Amino acid sequence: MQVLKAPAEVQAWARQQAREGKRIGLVPTMGYLHEGHLSLLRKARSLCDSLVMTLFVNPSQFGPGEDLDRYPRDEDGDLSKAMACGVDLVFMPAAADMYPKGFQTKVSLGALTEPMCGASRPGHFDGVATVVSKLFLITRPDLAVFGQKDFQQLAVIRRLVSDLNFGIEIIAGPIVREEDGVAMSSRNVYLSPDARKQARCLVRGLRAAEQRLAEGTRDASTLLAAARAVIGAAPLAKLDYLELRDAETLESVRTVSKPAVLAVAAKFGHTRLIDNLVLQA
Ligand code: PAJ
Repeated sequence: MQVLKAPAEVQAWARQQAREGKRIGLVPTMGYLHEGHLSLLRKARSLCDSLVMTLFVNPSQFGPGEDLDRYPRDEDGDLSKAMACGVDLVFMPAAADMYPKGFQTKVSLGALTEPMCGASRPGHFDGVATVVSKLFLITRPDLAVFGQKDFQQLAVIRRLVSDLNFGIEIIAGPIVREEDGVAMSSRNVYLSPDARKQARCLVRGLRAAEQRLAEGTRDASTLLAAARAVIGAAPLAKLDYLELRDAETLESVRTVSKPAVLAVAAKFGHTRLIDNLVLQA
């Protein structure tokens, strides 16, 4: 497994792979890898010849007062996990390699980035779209795998690839959960034991709504109320948003008549967690 930090070296590597007729697969990450990330690496491994993982905690997607400075890191652990998943190349740039002096270009999307995480984290998706565009242009993949855990991010990236003709196949990986249902996240390590227990309320709330739908309730406000009741019973959970939106366009829905995403974000102390469930009509 090679580890490179310089974008130009990675581009040269990618050109060589293409000359050899190899299909490049990409999994972008911010590191502190858990089973969720590893599931994406395994999926990509099975679909490509040369597998690239990027490991970069991207400053431009963190707002002021967010957790950039204390984002968890474990470089050695990440490299050995990547190796075990059959990664061929890890691209691990320094911030100055990605944003050298004078950098001023921004990739910014429209309506898709306004609600949900876009509303509570202004500028976040511009940071994501900009860095992912750079990662695409540096690693030149044929396909890239992203997790459904970050549902809005996935929608933004699909739109970006289509709008800017990147010509990259975007593949979604399902949410990997802990045994008690909590979605795996690098940020789960921040949680106190009490908060970690109460974090279950998110997936339980989502599943309560899913259950109501299975019983025949299609009305969005009733489904949202069912989820809210469960989440509201956890005293440490401070709800940021709970929304039911069209799974494709992310427009608000009043009645579930086609696949819809029930998405939640909540803070437990300083730690913000997100989760979602796609409800089938
Ligand atoms: P990060 O949070 O490290 O996540 C990297 C990838 O892992 C994303 O595609 C995310 O959706 C996926 N992932 C995280 N938790 C998961 C889980 N429990 N199950 C399945 N997949 C999961 O997302 C980012 O980094 C960044 O925004 C990035 C795309 C790298 C751009 O900086």
